[in-house]
Amino acid sequence: MKRRPLLAGNWKMHNTVIDACQLAAEIGKCSAGLSDRDVLLAPPYTVLSEVAHVLQGSEVLIASQNVCWEEQGAFTGEISPAMVKSAGGSAAIIGHSERRQIFHEDNGMINKRILGALAFGLLPILCIGETLEEREGEKTYQVLEEQIRKGLAGVSSEGMKEMVVAYEPVWAIGTGKTATKEQAQEAHAFVRKLLSEMYEKDIADSVRILYGGSVKPANVDELMAQIDIDGALVGGAALNAESFCRIINFT
Ligand code: PGA
Repeated sequence: MKRRPLLAGNWKMHNTVIDACQLAAEIGKCSAGLSDRDVLLAPPYTVLSEVAHVLQGSEVLIASQNVCWEEQGAFTGEISPAMVKSAGGSAAIIGHSERRQIFHEDNGMINKRILGALAFGLLPILCIGETLEEREGEKTYQVLEEQIRKGLAGVSSEGMKEMVVAYEPVWAIGTGKTATKEQAQEAHAFVRKLLSEMYEKDIADSVRILYGGSVKPANVDELMAQIDIDGALVGGAALNAESFCRIINFT
């Protein structure tokens, strides 16, 4: 099954308005005309509209870095799916390891966010991944299975067609330590097999599974050559136009 590659840049808590607009413009330029892949940027909420404005008319997709399950209300510090959409976004990263580890979001809350995003027509990117301790304790697959099963509770087959999964081993995020292509492929194959037990096989075969964790120009090509790796979720290397453009243009 041929899946359309998705190269996503997560800016995390970086870039004020001017820097964000400049970086977005450069990425817009270097992704123009790439018709065989999707490019996505997840800027901070404060610059979602500006980035969407700069990229108007381009094919670059805009995502929020998280999203609430409610449409509006007393949820201080949160952002609703309608707000993301009105700012020009069409997707949302959910369950990023920094949300899980630093802000103690658990699988139950992440599931609510996923269901909320789907209900309002945003494409959710569900992030999963084990810590170093879990890997060394041989709990990787147990952790991934729990994150997938609980994160996707109540997601229908129709919903699953609108989902992206990102495997991001926590020990590889921001550390410069990338999973080897074999480690990444093995985890991706495990996730796809699990999805084929939970959903129809053609759905599991069509879901895009991104790899994240120190993806950079030097390793993107070999990662993207793996059969079950359908894209990348990039942090640090997405903050620099030259390196992200190289990643987008992987061969
Ligand atoms: P990194 O971050 O590329 O800086 O490791 C990846 C991520 O957190 O999505």
